[in-house]
Amino acid sequence: MNQSLLIRRPDDWHLHLRDGAMLNAICGYSAHFGRAIIMPNLVPPVVTGEQARSYRSRILAALQKHVTLRPLMTLYLTETTDPADVVQAHRDGVIAAVKLYPAGATTNSASGVRDFNKVRPVFEAMAEAGIPLCVHGEVTDPDIDIFDREAVFIDRVLDPIRRKTPGLRVIMEHITTSDGADYVRSQDNLGATITTHHLVINRNHILVGGIKPHYYCLPVAKRESHRIALRQAATSGDPRFFLGTDSAPHPDHAKESACGCAGCFTAPNTMSILAHVFEEDGALDRLEKFASLNGAAFYGLPANDDTIRLVRRDTPATYPAKVPAGDDEVTVFDPGFPLYWHVEDNA
Ligand code: NCD
Ligand code: ZN
Repeated sequence: MNQSLLIRRPDDWHLHLRDGAMLNAICGYSAHFGRAIIMPNLVPPVVTGEQARSYRSRILAALQKHVTLRPLMTLYLTETTDPADVVQAHRDGVIAAVKLYPAGATTNSASGVRDFNKVRPVFEAMAEAGIPLCVHGEVTDPDIDIFDREAVFIDRVLDPIRRKTPGLRVIMEHITTSDGADYVRSQDNLGATITTHHLVINRNHILVGGIKPHYYCLPVAKRESHRIALRQAATSGDPRFFLGTDSAPHPDHAKESACGCAGCFTAPNTMSILAHVFEEDGALDRLEKFASLNGAAFYGLPANDDTIRLVRRDTPATYPAKVPAGDDEVTVFDPGFPLYWHVEDNA
């Protein structure tokens, strides 16, 4: 008999939907999700409430009626962000959070923050208004080894920010290390998203037997012991850890390049992969917490009312290796194992 699991509809607390032809091509692949926190790192970035409102309309137009995903918008924090604009956009229901990118840390982060003291008034206003801060937690100092960037960021940047503004609610986005997971467990007012791909790959997958550009993302996957720590955090049921896929599509030509972009496109097969991972770790009963309950609770929102069913069949679910996007193609993340868990979404 097929094994089956009914869970509340999941949410994606970290998603890149892009814009224009790419947005139109890929947004439907997140259809299983109820809500998604939409990353603002467009070119140019989404920095004002007005820009977030307009980006949200473009997303809703792309989703049309057949995809019920509700986009929760974010603002891209810059050194000139006006605290009053942030508070107003939140009060008007336009944004759910603000995103901090250290300048130069990742894709389209050139307008990010260099001097964290300059954005302190924004943090103070956010703490006061209860607006969460999503953090890309990597230092960009060229002297720091790329595999140490997350751990150093916690000590040098994140902990000082949180001490100076203790009321600020922070989400460490896409944690990749045991240091990140341990820090989250030791603090209040702090949660973390974990991606699908960081539960599956370590740095060997990127580098052994030839370089694999489609496994390259930021923060870069670390050594195996960190992957195991992330699996323990995700499958533990601990309310501070929740799903943020960081599904980040790039055209194949931009990834398969001498200077390839960072980002894994995991939206299409994420729920099948997660069911596999949680089953492997004997934690299927906690998948709903990670994917559907913990994130909503952290953001102070109710869980979704409806459900999806995951069914384990004898034959694997099939997902396309690539999806078309305008004149380009985007490669779908390959977990490297067959996916026996099928998503049945009858909503
Ligand atoms: C993201 C992107 O492509 O926008 N890339 C990635 O590797 N995760 C940016 C980000 O979230 O760091
Ligand atoms: Zn991201």
